[in-house]
Amino acid sequence: MDKSFLTDIKELRRRARSHIEQGAITAAYRGDRETVLRLLNEALATELVCVLRYKRHYYMASGIHAQAVAEEFLEHASEEQAHADLIAERINQLGGEPDLNPEGLLTRSHSEYVEGDDLVDMIKEDLVAERIAIESYGEIVRFLGDHDITSRRMMEEILENEEEHADDLRNLLATFDPTHPA
Ligand SMILES: [Fe+2]
Ligand SMILES: [Fe+2]
Repeated sequence: MDKSFLTDIKELRRRARSHIEQGAITAAYRGDRETVLRLLNEALATELVCVLRYKRHYYMASGIHAQAVAEEFLEHASEEQAHADLIAERINQLGGEPDLNPEGLLTRSHSEYVEGDDLVDMIKEDLVAERIAIESYGEIVRFLGDHDITSRRMMEEILENEEEHADDLRNLLATFDPTHPA
């Protein structure tokens, strides 16, 4: 593609009209669409597994009268759900299909579903999952670079939120596990 910003306005309009069925994807889209869609579907699976794990932990923590921790798990669950929705919407915009098939969900996900034996165990498992998400989302952001700015910005915002989650969990761990340094 011509690097010049001076692309003729008529030519821009012609291109915008010629592939109208491609929605948000214009000829200027520089991403490797198939790879971007695969990565976004993996991120989607990661979010969905996180929703399920946090929900499980929420109900179990409620059972052992740790209301404050349970509330934190619930808040994280709803934020992971919001991430999943953003990613699914972006996949759709890119002309792909969000993979919501429960079969293979864990294989597509980067993070794991670990139930955890007690409260401290649950917090630790959630922290591990957040750290995995932080690493893999960082890689996705670097991969997207300037090839797909919108997807990259979305993943950057989600990444920022996962770092807050990890920080919340670290603080919880310091409160509930005396052997764990703050
Ligand atoms: Fe998330
Ligand atoms: Fe998270």
